[in-house]
Amino acid sequence: MSKPLIIAIDGPAGAGKSTVARALAQRLGLTYIDSGATYRAAALKVVESRVSPADPAAVLDSVNHCRITFATDDGEWHVMLDDRDVAGLIRTPEVTRAAAWVSRVPEVRQKLVALQREAAQGAGVVMEGRDIGTVVFPDAPLKIFLEAHPAERARRRLDQEQADGRSASLTATADEIRRRDQLDAERKVSPLLPAADAVRIDSTHLTAGEVVERILNLAKERGLIEKSGALNAE
Ligand code: DC
Repeated sequence: MSKPLIIAIDGPAGAGKSTVARALAQRLGLTYIDSGATYRAAALKVVESRVSPADPAAVLDSVNHCRITFATDDGEWHVMLDDRDVAGLIRTPEVTRAAAWVSRVPEVRQKLVALQREAAQGAGVVMEGRDIGTVVFPDAPLKIFLEAHPAERARRRLDQEQADGRSASLTATADEIRRRDQLDAERKVSPLLPAADAVRIDSTHLTAGEVVERILNLAKERGLIEKSGALNAE
């Protein structure tokens, strides 16, 4: 029996990973997992504990005193913090900023990578993040590194913020994306880099649907799915 299919989608903030990964999972009947939600849940804990996100020892201590898990309902995986569904609390600007710091702490990453691997156990998944193809699933048979021009990423992120009912300006969003890009690229553990065997897709001038089609074609070319688009039998 072959192993369940794992598709890794990595790339910077605002490149369209969530939309693409979610749509791809739906098309293939795979589970969609957002690894960033685990860093955000850890960051929420840090914010709620009133610990400085820039203090690695304090961050680790607070993360060691909480339980982050995934729970499923309606086929979507929700991140849980101490058995609370925190999906609705982890997208605020404060948590976003804290997550960029929290994800720099190596021991926190170790813990969350273990959780991400566990969540995918036994199931076919599309997992999005920054280090899925390099660290979490280095053997994934299909790795995508999704990029887009920073101005386009800021525009998309702003649309999302507004759709979520948060007010934000394009300048502030562009600044935030720049700051996070820098933190993600500079960090010593798992800096944001494409895996050597990742396929890079620039989505600046592509719709999410077009990106999904490209990925499906790659999966077909590699024999991971049938020409009809169905998953190859295990
Ligand atoms: O994708 P996101 O914006 O929800 O990610 C939140 C933070 O977590 C962001 O600062 C990058 C970090 N992250 C990471 O370091 N590794 C991952 N696999 C996913 C997210």
